Amino acid sequence: MSGSSRVGFCLSDKKRRRINLQAFADFCAGRGVEVVEIDLTQPMGPQGPFDVIVHKLSDVIVEAEHDSQSQQLLANFQSFVSDNPSTVLLDPLPAMTRLLDRFASYRIMSKLHNSLRDWRVCSPSYLEIQSADDLTSVQQAVTTLSFPLICKTRVAHGSLSHEMCLIFSGGGLADIRAPCVLQSFVNHGAVLHKVFVVGEKHFCVERPSLKNFPPGPCDRNTIFFNSHHVSKPESNSALTALDEQTPLLPPPSSEAVAALVKELRLQLGMALFGVDVIINTHTHTLTVIDINIFPGYEGVPQFFSALLSHIQSVLGKQPAVSPDEKLTSGASSAAAKDQ
Ligand SMILES: Nc1ncnc2c1ncn2[C@@H]1O[C@H](COP(=O)(O)OP(=O)(O)OP(=O)(O)O)[C@@H](O)[C@H]1O
Ligand SMILES: [Mg+2]
Repeated sequence: MSGSSRVGFCLSDKKRRRINLQAFADFCAGRGVEVVEIDLTQPMGPQGPFDVIVHKLSDVIVEAEHDSQSQQLLANFQSFVSDNPSTVLLDPLPAMTRLLDRFASYRIMSKLHNSLRDWRVCSPSYLEIQSADDLTSVQQAVTTLSFPLICKTRVAHGSLSHEMCLIFSGGGLADIRAPCVLQSFVNHGAVLHKVFVVGEKHFCVERPSLKNFPPGPCDRNTIFFNSHHVSKPESNSALTALDEQTPLLPPPSSEAVAALVKELRLQLGMALFGVDVIINTHTHTLTVIDINIFPGYEGVPQFFSALLSHIQSVLGKQPAVSPDEKLTSGASSAAAKDQ
């Protein structure tokens, strides 16, 4: 491929500001890549052609569940993608849609235990709660989990999805709102490791996280919290301050993280995602608690160069570095075209 490539970005205003798309466009300008902002409310044909489209349509996908205008926007986008099979989509819509549903994403996470057996990677035990009308059956079902429990909404996108609670006993289950996921809380010394993936590369950043709680049921009231007050770089919450002196935990093994990223890239067929990982204080097991679509890459100064190099790689301008990477980069662009 010769000449300048056109890369369309289809993002919400908030996301565009957060990643500083204008600065990325300036960064790419002298490097043979033209960055174009796609306006989803306008016909896409005249805005193209695009060699690659980078998007985060989470808002639109979630709203399309109940809003006809969003359904129309999504349908226009999808028909442009299927009419232009040579345009590479980062990332495929079905893969992204799956991660917007915590029932689906925790099913993926729960299988890592098997596929990454050698690395002792796991995810916390959990239950899908479709309805909480029958409290007694929920109380019976949670006997497979260990208190405290963390409760997360089924929908994984939007401001409500970050409203969570910690439940300390069977009685506290009256506080949950279905549909939701109930998950065993894993003590991890209040450190979250965010792994940010950009194609073949990944970057690890430490963040504050929820403090340890005594294992087992107790008669404490439910704690309601917003996850964004807990695990953002600037978070400063009483919930992240450890009550006791805890020995520092070893950071996750870089080989295990690399194996996890490789496995998820294959499983998801995605290039731009994040994985939240904690280290179990008791067993030191690498525990996966969340997978995020096109995250903020906060604290990753190499994000622009990594994204540009991934775009160049899917355009075939850059040879993949190793046969392994060739395999996965090929897999992700093949999946990207598989719409
Ligand atoms: N099973 C668990 N055991 C211990 N702590 C947990 C567990 N699940 C979540 N947490 C804590 O709660 C926080 C929010 O959880 P999670 O990452 O699932 O939420 P989120 O709102 O989807 O996050 P994001 O901002 O990454 O989208 C984590 O950063 C971590 O501090
Ligand atoms: Mg998270």
